[in-house]
Amino acid sequence: MVYATSDAAGGGRLRVGMVGGGRNAFIGAVHRLAMRLDNRIDLVAGALSADPENARVSAAELGIAPDRTYADYREMARAEAARPDGIEAVAIVTPNHLHAPVASAFLEAGIDVICDKPLATTVEDAEALVRLAREADRKLFVTLNITGHAMVRQAREMVAAGELGRVNAIHTAFIQEWLTQPIDAQGHKQAEWRTDPARAGQSAVLADIGVHAYNLACFTGGCEADEVSADLFTAVPGRRLDDNANVLVRWSNGARGTLLASQTSPGHYGDLSVRLYGDRAGLEWHASRPEELRFTPYGEETRTLVRGGHGSRGESRRVSRMPAAHPEGYIEAFANLYNDAAALIRAHRSRTVAEGIDPALVPDVLDGARGVRFVAAAVASHARGGGWEKAGLGQP
Ligand SMILES: NC(=O)c1ccc[n+]([C@@H]2O[C@H](COP(=O)([O-])OP(=O)(O)OC[C@H]3O[C@@H](n4cnc5c(N)ncnc54)[C@H](O)[C@@H]3O)[C@@H](O)[C@H]2O)c1
Repeated sequence: MVYATSDAAGGGRLRVGMVGGGRNAFIGAVHRLAMRLDNRIDLVAGALSADPENARVSAAELGIAPDRTYADYREMARAEAARPDGIEAVAIVTPNHLHAPVASAFLEAGIDVICDKPLATTVEDAEALVRLAREADRKLFVTLNITGHAMVRQAREMVAAGELGRVNAIHTAFIQEWLTQPIDAQGHKQAEWRTDPARAGQSAVLADIGVHAYNLACFTGGCEADEVSADLFTAVPGRRLDDNANVLVRWSNGARGTLLASQTSPGHYGDLSVRLYGDRAGLEWHASRPEELRFTPYGEETRTLVRGGHGSRGESRRVSRMPAAHPEGYIEAFANLYNDAAALIRAHRSRTVAEGIDPALVPDVLDGARGVRFVAAAVASHARGGGWEKAGLGQP
């Protein structure tokens, strides 16, 4: 087990900038915690807000130098690319509609990207980013952060090793309550843009939380959706986009299953889960108990595999900082992604290999594009009354 928290990215800490994430923003602060947890990354530049004064004050509070505080992300990309000590990567934590233009500006400037989900609001923009990252020879990682959990990584390994046998069914869900009332119409900042088609995309619930559930199923199952049949609906009258989605999925590994996403389910703060059932065993992971896997070989008693405990192995040991009974959770999982992304970016920049890190474990531009494709397919299926719609990306 690795308990070290040293500077392990090699060649000093990775120099990172941030777009979005100023005062009163939500996820930017989480990214900063994740960057700092293991002391491998320095936040040295930022265009932290759409409001220039908020951008300035927010950067000053974080100790970002005035000459690396920007009012505009395009100016930041240009200026940082021209500095000898310029940022090596940018973290993008703006509303969805800006992910593609901001990512493009930095890729074109030769700067690697760590972008929050969804990668883009349209399939065309997602595909353009796949091409651009390839042409620019830059890394683009997407903070589909659930894959950073130690026991989610172990679940993937167990499925790949055949411990479930032939996987017949995969069910995934993300259920929340926070949009049960029309807070988007009452000035709630995060709710307001998430339900605006111009800034959220074609589907609110799938772009916001469905892509997490989808990525969790793809990651653990080692598959993607071949086809989907979707029923989307809006529970709150007057809301401009859906807040619920029920999706049937034909997975590419031959399994069938479901994806359920809801933001209007009282009693659920953030119930994200995946259940995989094979002809030899069943396996479940629930975000409410992130350090555990529920594993049931058919015909035997269910066992609970605990991070750091006797049933913990492989990746779950590599990314653990603490022994069992010293809980790790959301921030640690986010930091695992940041650590791996930083090491992979550093290795790519220095044309070396990031020792011990499997790049397939860090969601990249293709995984981000898969999510966008899934959302578009579900929206198209719903528009056709639930007919089956191709949803897979394959290996472009
Ligand atoms: N990975 C996760 O678990 C997770 C969780 C929450 C949110 N997210 C994603 O993170 C993103 C941000 O969500 P949030 O809840 O933090 O939103 P938010 O509204 O709280 O914050 C958005 C920030 O972006 C800034 N911004 C807007 N336009 C800008 C511009 N042109 N230049 C610079 N900054 C600009 C805003 O001023 C604000 O600081 C969304 O895409 C969301 O899907 C991911």
